[in-house]
Amino acid sequence: MAKKLHFPDGFLWGAATSSYQVEGIIKNVDWYKAAEKGRVPLVHNGINHYQEFENDFDLARELGHNAHRFSIEWARIEPHEGELSEEGVTHYQEVLRALRARNITPAVTLWHFTLPDWLARKGGITHKEFPFYFARYASFLADRLNLDGCLVFTMNEPHVQMEMGWLVGKWPPFHKGDFIGWMRGLRNLSRAHSKAYEKIKEKHPELSVGVVLHGKYGRANWNPINKLRARLLMWYRNHQFLDAVEEKVDMIGFNYYRHHSFGLRDTFPKTDFGWYIYPEGIYHALCDMKKYKKPIYITENGLADAKDEKRAKFIRDHLKWVHRGIVEGVDVQGYFYWSLLDNFEWAEGYKMRFGLIEIDFATKERNIRNSAWEFKKIIDTNTLET
Ligand code: BGC
Repeated sequence: MAKKLHFPDGFLWGAATSSYQVEGIIKNVDWYKAAEKGRVPLVHNGINHYQEFENDFDLARELGHNAHRFSIEWARIEPHEGELSEEGVTHYQEVLRALRARNITPAVTLWHFTLPDWLARKGGITHKEFPFYFARYASFLADRLNLDGCLVFTMNEPHVQMEMGWLVGKWPPFHKGDFIGWMRGLRNLSRAHSKAYEKIKEKHPELSVGVVLHGKYGRANWNPINKLRARLLMWYRNHQFLDAVEEKVDMIGFNYYRHHSFGLRDTFPKTDFGWYIYPEGIYHALCDMKKYKKPIYITENGLADAKDEKRAKFIRDHLKWVHRGIVEGVDVQGYFYWSLLDNFEWAEGYKMRFGLIEIDFATKERNIRNSAWEFKKIIDTNTLET
């Protein structure tokens, strides 16, 4: 028999983007400099969201979204060390205004992976003054932007940033196996978060401020060593950062894409990225976060699926498990699909298509995918029918 799963009143529904992935070319950031040297793909003006944001927010509204997560490009606000750009401030004021005008709650991420070139050249995240630089930037924003009613996330996925840049070496600054840098970076990032949190709360004590983590669920077979490996993965990705900053977090942003198996060989349907789809994992990962007793927002959950064959089911299946978490007492207050638009997928360039809205990268034409309409049905009724 069909069941109706109701989500809590006031639940936030929307999609997420990040500045570098959608705005188009900006030259004074580490990723652009690395692209010039051929080390990562070039972010050309594939999407033009910097110019088209009003139109894109109209589409989000048409799709029923009542919230939207986006990020601010640090280099647009502080293109040179210590100097605030009025142009940058005005742009993001306009973005906030455009969202509010459409009754869309803004969820702002202050920093999503890309660093201003001046800071990257000094050593970036591992520079001893990094927490100071980040807090000063956060303070500029808290002074100059109208953040009323926003959810504020300081930074996106500190672990992914450190792994890709300092262990795997596929992202700037391309260090491979630099364990000391990785540890120093993680420590700097938690300090940077805490300092930024204080600066924002000094000016806006009423705002909810948190951090976005890339959460994980580890599945293991009977073997105690595999069970331990799964636990360790979950401790590292779900808890290490929060335990360091717990007093300075009002809410948790939780991104969930996939699980990891230890000693298990079963297979599942795959996304275009080759990632297994395992919706139940989001439930276990959320239950693992219950102990913080803080509101949780699913700040990213999505898949690369150019043909839009699996997306609607992916969203429904994940929401079913999110709902089960809610029923069991996890305080989930919102869900942001990744992503609103097809966009620049870091080291993969424009190959992976995550969007609810398809983009023709040559003409910039937007086309709403069918799965986006399916998602709208859930949003409109605040209910998932299974
Ligand atoms: C990141 C996004 C990225 C997505 C898909 C997340 O880890 O926050 O920037 O596009 O994963 O790979």
